[in-house]
Amino acid sequence: MLRLEHVVVNYGSIQALRDVSFTVEEGEIVTLIGSNGAGKSTTMRAITGLKELSGGKIYYEDQDISGWTTRKKVEHGIILSPEGRQIFPRFSVLENLKMGGYLRTKAQCEETLQVVHELFPILKEREGQAAGTLSGGEQQMLAVGRAMMGKPKLLLLDEPSLGLAPLIVKDIFHLIKQIREMGTTVLLVEQNARSALKISDRAYVLETGKIVLAGTAGELLRSDEVQKAYLGM
Ligand SMILES: Nc1ncnc2c1ncn2[C@@H]1O[C@H](COP(=O)(O)OP(=O)(O)OP(=O)(O)O)[C@@H](O)[C@H]1O
Ligand SMILES: [Mg+2]
Repeated sequence: MLRLEHVVVNYGSIQALRDVSFTVEEGEIVTLIGSNGAGKSTTMRAITGLKELSGGKIYYEDQDISGWTTRKKVEHGIILSPEGRQIFPRFSVLENLKMGGYLRTKAQCEETLQVVHELFPILKEREGQAAGTLSGGEQQMLAVGRAMMGKPKLLLLDEPSLGLAPLIVKDIFHLIKQIREMGTTVLLVEQNARSALKISDRAYVLETGKIVLAGTAGELLRSDEVQKAYLGM
């Protein structure tokens, strides 16, 4: 469904991605693991068109989408829930959700809103509340719910568990599994490698802008390198 081939991304003279190649098949949950600064968010930005490529190609559903605008990618179902949530704190929960459906018709939004409310009942209960007054976990659910409002085929989640208490983290990962069961393909970026690998089919390890390891989630959970560097064992 998604294929990156030798992707290079620069910020001025800094090369953030040196050579990133990986694939995501339809229906999978694929995780990108990596330390701070490895280039995980940059990879997400490159896929969504928020950052232009300096080299390489990105293919989606067998089309070269390397030069597509973010808007065109969103229209084709590539949707990001960004690092740090980026919700609009003064707007209500419902208004934030509606922003996620900005390219879709009112009727389509109404239909998806029901699905999102089934996934995240708290977002229905709190629909009139200012988003900035939600708890951290609720804000994360709002960020994922807002991405779901765009009806993603490929949902990109950048650090959905960051800063959340262990119990909430469990909820978030459970929800990601549910989202996949609904037919959405998921590319996940996580520092919480263990929880991410447990719900993933496959994973890649990114180090200073390069993919250094690939395998099934089970293989990576058992790998010495991953255990030492990312699982604290
Ligand atoms: N806007 C920017 N301008 C210059 N350099 C940047 C910019 N954004 C990121 N970088 C650099 O690119 C590299 C990769 O950053 P990126 O945010 O992709 O890492 P990350 O893997 O998401 O890290 P984290 O786990 O901390 O979120 C880092 O060295 C970072 O300093
Ligand atoms: Mg990041």
